[in-house]
Amino acid sequence: MAVTRVPLRERGLSQRVRAVPPSGIRRFFDILATMEDVISLGVGEPDFDSPAAVVEAGVRSLRAGRTHYTSNYGTLELRTAIADHLERRYGVRYDPATEILVTVGASEAVDLALRATCDPGDEVILHEPSYVAYAPAVIFAGGVVRHVATRLEDDFALDPAAVEAAVTPRTKALFLGYPCNPTGAVLPPDVRDELARTAERHDLIVYADEIYDRLAYGSYRHRAFSSLPGMRERTILMGGFSKAYAMTGWRVGYLCAPAWLLEGIVKVHQYGIMSAPTVAQDAALAGLLACEADVEAMVAEYDRRRRLMVDGLNAIGLRTFEPRGAFYVFPLITSTGLDSETFAERLLREERVAVVPGGAFGPSGEGHVRACYATSYEQLEEALVRIGRFVERCRAGA
Ligand SMILES: Cc1ncc(COP(=O)(O)O)c(C=O)c1O
Repeated sequence: MAVTRVPLRERGLSQRVRAVPPSGIRRFFDILATMEDVISLGVGEPDFDSPAAVVEAGVRSLRAGRTHYTSNYGTLELRTAIADHLERRYGVRYDPATEILVTVGASEAVDLALRATCDPGDEVILHEPSYVAYAPAVIFAGGVVRHVATRLEDDFALDPAAVEAAVTPRTKALFLGYPCNPTGAVLPPDVRDELARTAERHDLIVYADEIYDRLAYGSYRHRAFSSLPGMRERTILMGGFSKAYAMTGWRVGYLCAPAWLLEGIVKVHQYGIMSAPTVAQDAALAGLLACEADVEAMVAEYDRRRRLMVDGLNAIGLRTFEPRGAFYVFPLITSTGLDSETFAERLLREERVAVVPGGAFGPSGEGHVRACYATSYEQLEEALVRIGRFVERCRAGA
């Protein structure tokens, strides 16, 4: 006899999945998809195509019949190149045989790191506003997010004292996504050192998403968190090729961790994914070995656009922090009298410029919008004209 139960539609999805609200930005992309002549500053994706050497390596890989699985860890050639690259840039050495895993983008790396290390109820300290996927990854893994706010008044710098205050006996890890999406903030050296001391004092794992490591401007020099004294043993370093190498569609990233951690993380990858796409791994190898000049040229162009956007938005009267990394600006829009959702929706409908409401990145993002400047200089100039016109109308009460 059938037992009366709560309808399947109400209990079919797991509690963890139900606990995560739908992405705040999907609605905008739905509206955007119905419109023409939109300047999109919405998606965090380079406008450049992948460098020629990357594309050629991908084509060669396919023609050579490299259409099979690789080792679960990824090809040894790519792991070795990643190890050399990290050692050269940051002076931290990982063993390609046991400490490096090639993943399906940094996205998979984030998911693996959380799922392999979080037990139900483990707390993860996470700065916000931060990348939209971090908090859901913690929740899907069964963990609990403890947010630490960062603010425009402090240049979105993470306050080590606030991190310290968020530590409880259940704290398992500290999540650091720097350079930061959406603010463009970086970790100043004194903050970085203090956070390392906090991690050591409380014996925490550190998840370090450093996918924007190459997109650093002005006097800022990125330093891998794992290269700080004592941090290599507790840090899961995540990175990828999407941003610096303009390779979003290839889906390749990496995760580096001490062997004792990587051994467990590989299990989650092995059973869930098997291996990252072979063609993409071969292409990424060419990126590391042959595309330094391409990366530098793209970063120089992002820097030019960054200055245009910071100056342009401040001139319009939208207070904008000068980002030191990544490719986003995060202007304060409260002077328009609008909340960030309304601002973004009206800007899209009235002026055909797409930006992302700041609240999507955490409660402290409210009052801001995120604009990605990985689009052409000319498009950005036109976007600034349209934003200026819109802001003027808002201020005039229209
Ligand atoms: C901070 C951050 N981490 C990870 C990712 C995901 O990158 P990937 O394309 O390598 O999966 C993104 C993409 O926007 C990001 O901004």
